[in-house]
Amino acid sequence: MSRKTQKKLTVGVIFGGRSGEHEVSLVSAASVIKALDKKKYRVVQIGIAKDGAWVTQKPMAALKSGKPAKQGSRLMPERVLNRCDVVFPVLHGSYGEDGTVQGMLEMANVAYVGGGVLGSAAAMDKVVQKQLCDQAGLPSVNYVWFLSKDWRKNKPAILQRINYKLRYPMFTKPANLGSSVGIGKCHDRQELIAGINDAARYDRKVIVEQGIEPMHEIEVAVLGNDHPRASVPGEIVSSNEFYDYDAKYVDGKSQAVIPAKLPQSVKREIQRIAVLAFKVLDLSGMARVDFLVKRGSYKVYLNEVNTIPGFTSISMYPKLWAASGVPYPQLLDRLITLALERYREKAALATSYRPKEDWYK
Ligand SMILES: Nc1ncnc2c1ncn2[C@@H]1O[C@H](COP(=O)(O)OP(=O)(O)O)[C@@H](O)[C@H]1O
Ligand SMILES: [Mg+2]
Repeated sequence: MSRKTQKKLTVGVIFGGRSGEHEVSLVSAASVIKALDKKKYRVVQIGIAKDGAWVTQKPMAALKSGKPAKQGSRLMPERVLNRCDVVFPVLHGSYGEDGTVQGMLEMANVAYVGGGVLGSAAAMDKVVQKQLCDQAGLPSVNYVWFLSKDWRKNKPAILQRINYKLRYPMFTKPANLGSSVGIGKCHDRQELIAGINDAARYDRKVIVEQGIEPMHEIEVAVLGNDHPRASVPGEIVSSNEFYDYDAKYVDGKSQAVIPAKLPQSVKREIQRIAVLAFKVLDLSGMARVDFLVKRGSYKVYLNEVNTIPGFTSISMYPKLWAASGVPYPQLLDRLITLALERYREKAALATSYRPKEDWYK
């Protein structure tokens, strides 16, 4: 078939979601929709309201209006799903970046962009992510984790464990969030207790980390399936004491330095660890891998892996690829091709086994 007669691919873009990062997803998805090459793709917009209802009638406007959706279906309407050749979940955080939507798409037998069920779920949980990466020998900061329930029951015992292992400043985080929601920087015991109490409101698990100070905050974009590549690393210069929600999205004063001004050997080390982390977590398609690099010594710590990174026009993931020779629209083409490749490879695997005897009858 010549290119001209090739039919357009229908891309379903899912956005919104039952997550603290609902608003960020709306902005990311609007950029993705705008940048998708309309000569190649027909776009179907699919919204998820904050209460989990699927919205298919003018979803972007409906979700931006902030009005709660009428209790709609909790499952993606089949007629919408059947129209899509590939789905791009542009959802950050819970019920979107964590393997749940990916599971639904697997069951529906539709190709989709980004990590599968296992990788998305493992990367979403900061504790599980750290445990897997630690096991593979990847460098990360010291941490202590516990259940919010146990914190409420026995604060002194948990504080003792933390004091034994970590020094101030420390960072308190809910295990399963993003966009810095629920994250606190703690300089003393009082701030530590307040930080843990806050993180425990968001999650059944809390992680307290050793703060690295002063540091370079470095991000790398990874692209590919089984043989992924890393972009040039970039540095974030945060407008606030740390890269919190306002510094990320609201005040517009944080800067990105791309490529990061670090020694070549450190940049290469960061790229190597980013690709390893991607493989260890069994990811596919894309991920943004974030690092903390101690100033002076350039000691590298893996901070976190994001399986659906921000996709706004000023987001690091597309900017890092643009600086590495892959402009935004081509990046989307590549992600869609990778999704279709993975789908085909999986579809080619055997899914039945014929036992010799009919023992099950
Ligand atoms: N251990 C740490 N040491 C120093 N700064 C940290 C540490 N952990 C987090 N931060 C700061 O907090 C920000 C948010 O933390 P992060 O773990 O990346 O959470 P999120 O998933 O919400 O992005 C980071 O971008 C960084 O600025
Ligand atoms: Mg982060």
